[in-house]
Amino acid sequence: MPNVDSVKVAVRVRPFSQREKDAGSKCVISMNSNSTSIYDPRNPGHMKTFTFDLAYWSHSGFLKDTNGMLVSAGSNNYAGQREVFRDFGEGVLENAWQGYNATLVAYGQTGSGKSYSMIGYGANRGIVPVVCEELFKAIQNQEKNKQYQIAFSMLEIYNEQVTDLLSKTKKPGGLKIREDQQQGFYVDGLRLVPCDNYAQIERLMEQGNKMRTTARTTMNATSSRSHMVITVRFKQIFLDEAITKESIINLVDLAGSERQKSSGSEKDRLKEGTRVNLSLTTLGNVISALADVATGKKVLHIPYRDSVLTKLLQSALGGNSRTIMIAAVSPADICYEETLSTLRYAERTKKIRNKAVVNASPTEKLIRELKAENNHLLSRLAGLGNAGTLVADGTQEQRCLLAENERWIESAQVAWEARLEEARGEWEQQYAAAAQVFVKAGSVDMNQLAMPKYVSRRLAHERRMMETFPYLLNINEDPQLSWVVKHFIQDGSCDVGQSASNAIILRGLGILDKHATFTNADGKVTLTPGDKCKVTVNGVPITGKTKLQHLDRVILGSNSAFLYVGPPAERTDEDMSRYDYDFFQSELAAAEGLSVDKLGAAGSKDSRADPSVLAVFHDYIKLMPLVAEVNQMSEELKKDLTFELKVKNLASSDSRGYDLQKEIIVKVTHVTTNQVWVWSKAKFVNRKLLMEELYQRFREGGDTHVNQDSDPFWDPVEVVHVGSAHVWLQSLAYCVQLEEQTELLNSEGLEEAVVLVNLSPCSRDGRILGEDDMVIDPLELLGRRVDFQIRIVECLGVKWLQDAAGRGIQIGYRVYDLSRSLYTKPIWKNMNPKIEETVHFSALNASYEFLNYLQKNALIVDLWGLQEGCTEMDYSLDGLLLTPEGTVMVDNPKALTANDASLDTANYMSELYQKLLHMEEEMELLREINKALREENLLLKNKLQWDTRHHAKTKSESPTNAVKMKQSLSLRESETICSPRTSCDAEFAKALKIFYQNMNVVRQQFLQLKHFRPPQEDNLQILRLFTERRSQLINNFGKQLESTICKLKSDVAVIVKKKQEYIACSRS
Ligand SMILES: Nc1ncnc2c1ncn2[C@@H]1O[C@H](COP(=O)(O)OP(=O)(O)OP(=O)(O)O)[C@@H](O)[C@H]1O
Ligand SMILES: [Mg+2]
Repeated sequence: MPNVDSVKVAVRVRPFSQREKDAGSKCVISMNSNSTSIYDPRNPGHMKTFTFDLAYWSHSGFLKDTNGMLVSAGSNNYAGQREVFRDFGEGVLENAWQGYNATLVAYGQTGSGKSYSMIGYGANRGIVPVVCEELFKAIQNQEKNKQYQIAFSMLEIYNEQVTDLLSKTKKPGGLKIREDQQQGFYVDGLRLVPCDNYAQIERLMEQGNKMRTTARTTMNATSSRSHMVITVRFKQIFLDEAITKESIINLVDLAGSERQKSSGSEKDRLKEGTRVNLSLTTLGNVISALADVATGKKVLHIPYRDSVLTKLLQSALGGNSRTIMIAAVSPADICYEETLSTLRYAERTKKIRNKAVVNASPTEKLIRELKAENNHLLSRLAGLGNAGTLVADGTQEQRCLLAENERWIESAQVAWEARLEEARGEWEQQYAAAAQVFVKAGSVDMNQLAMPKYVSRRLAHERRMMETFPYLLNINEDPQLSWVVKHFIQDGSCDVGQSASNAIILRGLGILDKHATFTNADGKVTLTPGDKCKVTVNGVPITGKTKLQHLDRVILGSNSAFLYVGPPAERTDEDMSRYDYDFFQSELAAAEGLSVDKLGAAGSKDSRADPSVLAVFHDYIKLMPLVAEVNQMSEELKKDLTFELKVKNLASSDSRGYDLQKEIIVKVTHVTTNQVWVWSKAKFVNRKLLMEELYQRFREGGDTHVNQDSDPFWDPVEVVHVGSAHVWLQSLAYCVQLEEQTELLNSEGLEEAVVLVNLSPCSRDGRILGEDDMVIDPLELLGRRVDFQIRIVECLGVKWLQDAAGRGIQIGYRVYDLSRSLYTKPIWKNMNPKIEETVHFSALNASYEFLNYLQKNALIVDLWGLQEGCTEMDYSLDGLLLTPEGTVMVDNPKALTANDASLDTANYMSELYQKLLHMEEEMELLREINKALREENLLLKNKLQWDTRHHAKTKSESPTNAVKMKQSLSLRESETICSPRTSCDAEFAKALKIFYQNMNVVRQQFLQLKHFRPPQEDNLQILRLFTERRSQLINNFGKQLESTICKLKSDVAVIVKKKQEYIACSRS
């Protein structure tokens, strides 16, 4: 009878990783019994709760015991490896004994802890090894009238190709998946190794891991995007009852589930990452379809056949298997999106219902039936005496059949024994060969020495080698594949390279036939690279003989990384585990001049790096090896392209002066034409996968010709962003004209050109407003129509034109909430182009938001680089809303409000920026004083009028008409002379105009200072120069700030004095 049950699902949350700790991450997961809650870090009140079969809290509350195992530190909510095994491993074993198929799948983003749960690390062994060990332990305690057969296989699916991890010969194109009526899908030709003890399985897993490690290097695939499937076939033969039960245990460690984020990146012209993600995407589709089936929805098709993984997991999902999924999640806020998506995936999976049956082989079933039939016939025979030849004939026939089947069982058993013996022979041979190899070359291949009876000898030998000689230890991006290979450096010299004649054979990108030589003379080891061979030690490229020190980091070729373990005398107690893959890459980045400090993390008040900057830094070091590999592929495939990692917005600010979100980009340059492309991270990663396929074909000697349209190296020529300038709009809020000459800076803060821009307040018909039209308080404009013109006058010294002929430029900018940017007409081949383009803008009903925008924002003026053959930017006004006069309409207050909210994060303000704000506040105060004075002025004016009238009344009879006229004239004159508009306001307007212009300089200096970072070199001379330059910049900034305020104060003081004089004069 099939047993209908749902897929069991557990969530497991791991401790913070070093990266997460560095970033000061917060934990967004909490668990209570079997429910898991996740908080949205941007909106902590928003929480989502999921209920699964089990929830494992492995995040905190643990300590390391003397064996290195993580165990509970006293509280009982910590779940270690033992607890996970108790719940799941034991269940898997129980199922296996009963004859059910069992599948255990680990799902989650890269680094979330899938391999930790499945395979484990060091003393913290995962479910797979413990299940296997327990299986053998249990067998030893079983009765004698039973036989057991255990066979082990291990495969990897990468890019829809299946690799047998236990076979030394790799089939080009991988193994094929076939379908059989009885077994369903299976891998044709997969090695199924019979095992009769746990030590064998342990060795097989080591061997498989080593295969994975070398496969990664030769396939040049750094990313952990492969799925690993371990299968244990467990057969029990009950000799007395002639019954067999078979259970297939699939243990699946899936590839990282994260999707490439498309944020900030354009859609790639070429389709998403080949077939690398196909298996995972299809698994998602299959799970969704099965979840729909379980909830009663009509589903026409379940796409098992669409990918290799889903074909192999068909019975695990919706079929004959008891299935468990472990959803591994990170606790950190920076992984919120991915964790939420993992939990949703798990939620769908738990709906799937399977129909597991006990697997009894048809042959054995038949025997059982025949035996029953036989017994029945024998008893009938006894009852009938000797009569009934027909029945006797029938019985005879059945007896024959029965005997034949019993013979079949026996022969199957003999065959099994033979296979087991054969496997033992093979182990022995391998051991002998490997022993010879390492005696000859000093390089121990520990995974080949797996014959159980030699295990202790092998281990003892390896230990002896490690205690005697220095050696290289491999370091891989996936910690599971690190420390898998050791190369010993014995006395004398030892060559490394691709060719088989080397003592250490290394296949990997950028490794030449004879790449380098290690020499061990009296315990001193030196490394000498071959001619034109890439070798770096501790992040620095070396060209000549270099002495190695214990724990030096060595990279050969593009990306084959090793930790050098010195001779025993040099060794220290230092923990080697800190030298992981990230350490190697950070060191390379530092050598290239990139560090977290340089990215702008330093200087924040709590001296902790800004998490977003750290995220970019980690992206950078993750992409570095990929860029090195792509450069190597480009060179070998003669693509004439070089790839460089850059940080977008390294020194750029948004329109309010806050740092822009930094992002990793890849600059692609054609070596001969100097054409430039800028690729987003997502596009680069996608392209690299396609390049790997092409390169693989090239290495296998296949046809590497592709048409331009499908060439991952090719892209149409495009317009490139060269630099930006800030032109502060504040003067427009006071209707004051601004003529600005400012630098266009590239993303690293270096000058690319100078641009001249005029901002002019104007009337609706385009007449530029004069000083008389200035407003004292921008709120006077509230609800009124505001017109202004932006004039791009010219550009000077455009560096973009220096590097290649046939280049041009366009200037672009975007005002307020306009739906798109406006561009000037293209100008080609001119380093100092006169542009002279003016656009008239109108806010029909100036809102508070709009006036706020003018006061607080800058116009970002972008310089775009044109290259021969690119499509120019559309410089028409098409698609913009125009007023009846033909001016561009800019009011849509809603858009800015949303923008404001996202920008309102005080975090970004440095102390200097705070100073600027203070200055603005001070100005606000002065404005208030002025307003008060104006009111007082008005009061006095009224009083004066009243006094004059009163005076005139008292002397009514005496003056003549002529005198009256004179009096009224002099009154008008005195009004004219003393009118606030003409006397004080105009001067105030002038003072403000000077103030805005000075403020622009202050702001530019501030931005320059903010992005002025120390050099990476430890060179005193350079550091001194830097310090001097920075002091000079600070000095200039301070002076300019001070003189700006002083000027404003003195101007206002003069105005105030004049007003007081006027008041005094009018009183007397
Ligand atoms: N429960 C845990 N307790 C302690 N450390 C853990 C735990 N889970 C994971 N880790 C650590 O986190 C790191 C990443 O884990 P792991 O290699 O298992 O990730 P993964 O999900 O297999 O990633 P990938 O998809 O790249 O293979 C490892 O260094 C591992 O030791
Ligand atoms: Mg893993």
